Formats: sequence, structure tokens, C-alpha cells
Amino acid sequence: MSKLKIAVQKSGRLHDDSMKILKDVGISIDNGRDQLKASAKNFPLEVFYLRNGDIPQYLRDGIVDAAIIGENVLIEKGQDIPIIEKLGFSSCRLSLAVPKNIQFKSLKDLQGKRIATSYPNTVQAFLNKNQIKANLHIINGSVEITPNIGLADAIVDIVSSGSTLFKNNLKEVDVLLQSEAVLAESPLISNESKNILNKLKFRFQSVLKGRQ
Ligand code: PRP
Ligand code: MG
Repeated sequence: MSKLKIAVQKSGRLHDDSMKILKDVGISIDNGRDQLKASAKNFPLEVFYLRNGDIPQYLRDGIVDAAIIGENVLIEKGQDIPIIEKLGFSSCRLSLAVPKNIQFKSLKDLQGKRIATSYPNTVQAFLNKNQIKANLHIINGSVEITPNIGLADAIVDIVSSGSTLFKNNLKEVDVLLQSEAVLAESPLISNESKNILNKLKFRFQSVLKGRQ
């Protein structure tokens, strides 16, 4: 019998809660994340532990059938990937922030400025919509440090508790989007895998109802 291949974040903000929802729906995974792949004992499922940013491409290519992933990553890199269920955990927002001591009146203040972000597509679309021309610096992590070291005038990054902004003397001045963990599906999923994914989705739905 075939197994559903599902991608889960290898490490980072979504990992623990993703494993928890699988556990809560009664699926027990054989081994830890030292291995990049693990099988469920009592459900036709294989879990692939992958880097967040790589997951949209794996879905697009049909290497995995489904994924538990942040909506923000799909908006940035996977607008063609269908979301089949919102999972209600790992809520966060993608926000614009500037140094605390800067007077920020409106988005027009960004004109000609340098913005550091790991979300260039989302930020560029936001700037276009607001008719602002700014220079994007693409950084993969620790984006909040860039204004302090003179690399950027503003940043766009994920905010959850707000503590990273606070520690780096930044203030949030606009929200580009809200995000949470979602269940996404490969556009190339087979009918057989789709049947298993539907079963998994129904289990998720009943656990999510119970959590409300
Ligand atoms: C994420 C994100 C923010 C921070 C937000 O970074 O990029 O920096 O968490 O969380 P907070 O509002 O609760 O502080 P992460 O620690 O995952 O590291 P990275 O940016 O280096 O990937
Ligand atoms: Mg960070």
C-alpha cells in the first residue's frame, strides 16, 4: 500500500507544533528528526524533515504530496500551491519595522531607502502596491540586526511575540500579512495519496475543533 509523503519543518518555529498535531491525531512516528525521513507506525504516512524555504519546490515537483508549512512561506514562494486546511497554530505576522528612535510618518518615508528582508517577493509586491521604490537587501536570517549595523533603514520580517524587535530597538510600523500553519497539497498529488490526505485532513479537523 502506498504512503502519503508529508513535509514538516526540520527545525524552527513550526517543528514542535507540527509534530504535536500529528501525535494528537493518533499518529506515532518511528524515529526522531536525526533522520531526514521517518515512517508512521499506524498510518500510511512518511514524514520528510525539510528546510522551510525548500518545501514549496518539493510540493511543486511532487517530491512530497503534502506539507505542514507557514502560510507566509507559500505567499512568498508558492502562490501556485493549494492550501487545504488552516491549522490554527504558529500564528505570526509579517511586519515592517524601523529603528525605535526614527520618526516614521507614512510609507512614503521608505522612498529610496534600504529594506532588509527574507521575503523579497512579498515586500516588492507591497512596495509596488504603495508605489514606493526602495532597495531590497535579501538576508536569510537575523534580519533584525541589519539596521543596527548600518546595513538597512528598515526591515520586513516575521513577528510573533515581538521580543526580537524589542531586543533590537525596532518598532513595528505596518503589517504586510498575517500567517499561521497550514496544510498544503502538491498540485501533482496522485488519487491514492489524495485519499490518504483526506483522511489525515478529517483527523486534523476534529482535533482542531476540540482545541477551540
Ligand atoms: C524568527 C523571525 C523573527 C522572530 C520572531 O526568527 O525571523 O526574527 O523569529 O519571533 P518573536 O517576535 O517572537 O521574537 P528565528 O528565531 O526563527 O531565526 P532566523 O530569523 O535567524 O531564521
Ligand atoms: Mg529572525
